[in-house]
Amino acid sequence: MCIRVIVLILFSTLCASALQTNYDLYTANGISSGLSVDRPDFTLNGKNISIYSGAIHYFRVPRVYWRNRLTKLRAAGFNAVETYIPWNLHEPQSGVYDFGNGGSEMEDFLHLETFIELAQREDLFVIIRAGPFICAEFEYGGFPSWLLRERDIAFRSSNSVYMQYVSRWFNVLLPILAKHQFTKGGAIIMFQVENEFAQKDKGNDKTYLNELRQLMLDNGIVEILSTADNPWRGVGGTIRDEFFMTGNFDSDAIQNLDYLRSYQPGKPIMVMEYWSGWFDYWGTSHQTKAVEEFEEIFEQILWYPASVNVYMFIGGTNFGFLSGAENLAFDDLNTKFSPITTSYDYTALLTEAGDYTDKYYAAQRLIAKYNPFPTLLPEMPALVHRKAYSSVAVQEQITLYEVIPTLPSFVTYHPVSMENMDINNGNGQSYGYVVYRKTLDLDANSLLKIVGRVCDTVIVLVNGKRVSPVLAKAADLNNFGTWRTENSSLKLTDEDLRDATLDLVVENWGRVNVGVYYQPKGLWQGDIEINGEPVHDWLMYPLEFKKSWTDSLSQWKTFAVSDNNDEPKIYRGNLEISDTPRDTYVDMENWTKGIVIVNGFVLGRYARIGPQQTLYLPAPFLIEGSNQIVVFEEFTSDSEVKFVTDPLYKNN
Ligand SMILES: *[C@@H]1O[C@H](CO)[C@@H](O)[C@H](O)[C@H]1NC(C)=O
Ligand SMILES: *[C@@H]1O[C@H](CO)[C@@H](O)[C@H](O)[C@H]1NC(C)=O
Ligand SMILES: *[C@@H]1O[C@H](CO)[C@@H](O)[C@H](O)[C@H]1NC(C)=O
Repeated sequence: MCIRVIVLILFSTLCASALQTNYDLYTANGISSGLSVDRPDFTLNGKNISIYSGAIHYFRVPRVYWRNRLTKLRAAGFNAVETYIPWNLHEPQSGVYDFGNGGSEMEDFLHLETFIELAQREDLFVIIRAGPFICAEFEYGGFPSWLLRERDIAFRSSNSVYMQYVSRWFNVLLPILAKHQFTKGGAIIMFQVENEFAQKDKGNDKTYLNELRQLMLDNGIVEILSTADNPWRGVGGTIRDEFFMTGNFDSDAIQNLDYLRSYQPGKPIMVMEYWSGWFDYWGTSHQTKAVEEFEEIFEQILWYPASVNVYMFIGGTNFGFLSGAENLAFDDLNTKFSPITTSYDYTALLTEAGDYTDKYYAAQRLIAKYNPFPTLLPEMPALVHRKAYSSVAVQEQITLYEVIPTLPSFVTYHPVSMENMDINNGNGQSYGYVVYRKTLDLDANSLLKIVGRVCDTVIVLVNGKRVSPVLAKAADLNNFGTWRTENSSLKLTDEDLRDATLDLVVENWGRVNVGVYYQPKGLWQGDIEINGEPVHDWLMYPLEFKKSWTDSLSQWKTFAVSDNNDEPKIYRGNLEISDTPRDTYVDMENWTKGIVIVNGFVLGRYARIGPQQTLYLPAPFLIEGSNQIVVFEEFTSDSEVKFVTDPLYKNN
């Protein structure tokens, strides 16, 4: 027994020392060329390479954990990491940029160069998908909402208004990325432009793709430029000889790979998105994908053989208000609008919290089996255990009704969208809620009618009292108060009220991330009527939940369970932590719908309709000492905030 152990140790030491790191293998004798697609195998610096990449979106993982997630990727045998670049986060206001500590709410996630350098230190190459459109189930597909203030803009096209903003953005972004290219001694081996462009107008606007390519070249990008489309859609989303075409799919692997081979004979074959799982919509059931299914298709891809990027390796979290939405109809913006959950776990190879899954081990085994060019891999990092902190009792509260007058206000004759309010240095409001307020006399049986649709939900308050229905289960989405009903109406009062305050609290539940581009949020599709007469001269209030604002709230009152906790309110409690903070999940299953804010940072949305019931709260957002837990609850509150170690789902 002892001898066998020693022999094994000796053997593995010898084997290990024979293997080189990625960078030793591909750059030891200097760098003379980058990734090439001129032959059936990729070559990097003249040597054959199979690319085994995994997607990690730096903007969906806390910065403190980037290194840990990258090491786990490398330890499974992957040799590259892929990420999209979210334009909306890096240019939060027109012409104002944030690449880390730039003052935006997401500033800590935006240290893009640090992410690329860490990947290189962890012995990984990098694939960049620069957009400008990224889809990614991310808010507005990565577009900044201030673009909606432009009237004559046509998204994802050679339209001059659109391209003027794209050019300005790329001329800032690309010089930063150019420094990190493989042939300059950096990590980036490939750049994708656009995303599944064949889906948009069959990819007809080749001028647009050419303009994106020219911007890349003009900014010193010398590595391979690629596009990615579903292979069954044909070659409309690319331009032969100018881009290297890759494919996105999760089934019919051989047929899809055959398509790619036939489109580009003599070139390498690469899957840019092999979907390891899927995302969740609010009001539906939790998506899962069995490990056997993942494994079978993954093996077919490696056996073919093709290079691959597994989308996602770790999905992470749509923190803040950054989850997108799908429009499942593609023709009508509103009836099939389906907002995506805060968690982007994706049932990927690592969980949202970074745990290894069966899919991780399956991928590790298959890459070891098929990789013709093995390299030296790190140990798998040990997992850090999460903690179910003791419940935090709600101690203080403020009603939304009391808060509204303290917000900056905007006067308008007709109600306008949140993007069109003259706030944030002329950029309008991007995220959160917007309140439309009017003081008026109401008669008994006054009927409110909202012409058009609400984007996306509305709560109606009369003198601070909620008169619209609760949204607690999936079927409630069909009631008054959501996008689903056109020209919806609601009875406001049973009695005559003089100088009543009418508040319409409208929520942006995430902009559609593909297929629809004109999608302002708020009430903008028509008039707001009472008993058939349009009401004019509204006060609008942006409710953005920016950190500085939440931290400055001062009207807190003591909370009591016996209060009316059935109207929109902001609640506060303290989480005392006496040692090093640990990861945890916030359990919101007995609250109804709203957002959780931890130490001023909007962790994300929760909704009892599910499937997601818990919010991942990473340790780096907590401090040793007193942590402020704030909840904005739109409907009925609980009296405490609970914590659990693992995520909970409720299916519909
Ligand atoms: C490298 O790839 C070429 C085809 O692109 C192939 O002919 C050659 O055998 C490969 N070399 C190795 C060492 O795998
Ligand atoms: C909604 O109201 C508008 C304006 O009154 C009208 O043109 C439209 O046909 C109505 N839609 C429905 C579905 O009733
Ligand atoms: C939610 O409420 C139910 C019924 O009161 C209770 O059984 C359950 O333990 C509660 N769950 C949490 C997480 O508070």
